Amino acid sequence: MISSTAKARFITIEGVEGVGKTTNIQFITAQLEKARIPFIVTREPGGTPVAELIRQLLLTKRDEHICELTELLLIFAARAQHIHHVIAPALREGKWVVCDRFTDATYAYQGGGRGLSMEKIAALETMVQGELRPDITYILDLAPDIGLHRARQRGELDRFEQEKIEFFNRVRAAYLARASRDPERCVVIDAGMALVAVQSAIRSHLDVIL
Ligand code: TMP
Repeated sequence: MISSTAKARFITIEGVEGVGKTTNIQFITAQLEKARIPFIVTREPGGTPVAELIRQLLLTKRDEHICELTELLLIFAARAQHIHHVIAPALREGKWVVCDRFTDATYAYQGGGRGLSMEKIAALETMVQGELRPDITYILDLAPDIGLHRARQRGELDRFEQEKIEFFNRVRAAYLARASRDPERCVVIDAGMALVAVQSAIRSHLDVIL
């Protein structure tokens, strides 16, 4: 069991649509429970009532086009709210935070996908997060056509899921580029493997830190 004085960790899970984030988050939290580590599970965009409203704005397809900069600012507005009310207090109380997506998604979707400058994103990251960065990021990597096929089977597509395959290819490439620049923090896992193999890869990494 982990010592109660150990620093609470901030874990994020990333990947294109349909990579199996939800299933693997459940697996991660089951490992934390077994190790008796206090934690919360949350998601982005969202995680507070106001941030969930911003999520609806972002995910709902409307007649009015949401321009790239509006999208970026809405994402960081939701993030500011989420950090202030949920993430920072949990970490202060010694609870680990397991978050479904965080700022790597912004670099991947708004930077890679939409083509916004990484410097602009980095400036907002510093403004909104200060020093806060994830300690560990699992990037579930999968060919976007396979992931999108899975996502389509879940039902109606949201505003992002309706993007073309080229958009998701750029998202995937941006995730992998971030992982290669920050290999200490980012663990890339081949999400095309059987679920047991994906979970065993996560587990062997988690075992080292638990
Ligand atoms: P999800 O809950 O299925 O992951 O959907 C959230 C969507 O929001 C997903 O398509 C990715 C997108 N997104 C961004 O574009 N930028 C971000 O920073 C985050 C957190 C999510």
